[in-house]
Amino acid sequence: MSTPQNKMHLAAFVTAGPGRPGGWRHPGSEPGWLSASYYQHIGRVLEQGKFDLMFLPDILSVPDRLGGSMDSQLRYGALGSLRLDPTPVLSAVAAATSHLGLAATISTSYFDPFPVARSLSTLDHLSDGRAAWNVVTSFQDSEARNFGEDRHIDRDQRYARADEFLEVACKLWDSWEDDALVFDAETPLFADPDRVHSIDHKGDWFNVRGPLNTPRSPQGYPVIIQAGASPKGRDFAARWSDVIFCSHASLESAKDFYQDIKARAVAHGRRAEDVKILPMATPIIGPTTEAARETEARLFELVPPLAGLSTLAYHLDIDLSELPLDEPLPDVDVPGVQGHYQEVVEMTRREGLTLRELGKKYGGRTEGSFVGTAAEVTDGMAQWFTEGACDGFTVGSVHTPGAFEDFVRQVVPELQRRGLFRTEYEGTTLRDHLALDRPETGQWHDRRHGNADGDNG
Ligand SMILES: Cc1cc2nc3c(=O)[nH]c(=O)nc-3n(C[C@H](O)[C@H](O)[C@H](O)COP(=O)(O)O)c2cc1C
Repeated sequence: MSTPQNKMHLAAFVTAGPGRPGGWRHPGSEPGWLSASYYQHIGRVLEQGKFDLMFLPDILSVPDRLGGSMDSQLRYGALGSLRLDPTPVLSAVAAATSHLGLAATISTSYFDPFPVARSLSTLDHLSDGRAAWNVVTSFQDSEARNFGEDRHIDRDQRYARADEFLEVACKLWDSWEDDALVFDAETPLFADPDRVHSIDHKGDWFNVRGPLNTPRSPQGYPVIIQAGASPKGRDFAARWSDVIFCSHASLESAKDFYQDIKARAVAHGRRAEDVKILPMATPIIGPTTEAARETEARLFELVPPLAGLSTLAYHLDIDLSELPLDEPLPDVDVPGVQGHYQEVVEMTRREGLTLRELGKKYGGRTEGSFVGTAAEVTDGMAQWFTEGACDGFTVGSVHTPGAFEDFVRQVVPELQRRGLFRTEYEGTTLRDHLALDRPETGQWHDRRHGNADGDNG
């Protein structure tokens, strides 16, 4: 299955909770976070807009990185204040849609491969091949404390565990051969025991016998998504990912990242087009440029600085409450998300921001800075796409569901008119939409070890 390479791919970043601190206070925001119909409505809107997939981020704690307190997160409805479990939410969306890809964020640091592989296989079956997994390694001590540990494991260990986690998950997805479910009532032969295999995995982190108790799913493996930004994270993503999420403060840094990841993928023996890079873009669309800028300014007004700083403290994994608010963010060692740190360093320098201003800016930020009329937003997206900064975008919403409705009504037709985006789905599975091959049994081996020399070593 192949999609023309000159078409962009669109993922939607949908938080199963209030998301950005100012957004839920906007009049266009509906507080439907606790009802299935809210997510089903968003799914239908995105499918109407021919989006490739709907992506749900996740977090396994209420963050307390600002001053050791959850107060700012809860009070301001910041990023980690309320968050439903992505996989059941996506099952509800699967029932209301027929083409949209469904991506759940699941951490390799806190769960076990067997239930995760099973849950994603189940979603892939129930959705007829639309499941994806955003593989995260997590980065918060507050998350560790919900799983019997005081501190989160360090980055090298996180990625070592993630590597073995994916190996085990793939072995489990392969544990039923494609034709193992015979379902012959006459013989009788339900499943052929010769075509269902234990995996007998014994490793540094996991011992798993297998097999899985679900047959190989429509996509073979669900689509694998990753967002690592450190050198270790990029290497991991370049080997395992079908899709990479990222976030950049400028077109230049997006281009650098794009080239770096594609080169890493090729060095591991993959084709550059096997990895789709989708940076965040959170557009603000108005009838005129001025109207869009006014909406942006109003959104910033809705963000108390501490709300943004609370989320930034969580992302960087640094207690920013110890730093002076009226001076710029100093150089710091970041145990958390390197990509977000690079983004705020660039923003701080470019705009001469104090930490207080950065907090406001970060809380209400509109990644990719696509603010203007639908035509102007389309111009910006087209420029990133045609100049080699991305294969499409992960579209965020400043208020939900209204901003997605606006995007689908106004920007998608403009992208389609310019021949930059599909007008119809050409296949049914998420791999079809992304022009990705269905993995053969055993394909995990090349991803785990790299296959640059054409051998499997
Ligand atoms: C667009 C985007 C979405 C992300 N979503 C999540 C998420 O939902 N949950 C999470 O724990 N980490 C998330 N991350 C963080 C990454 O998974 C990763 O842990 C982080 O970039 C740190 O990578 P590094 O250890 O290689 O620096 C996201 C990152 C980006 C850029």
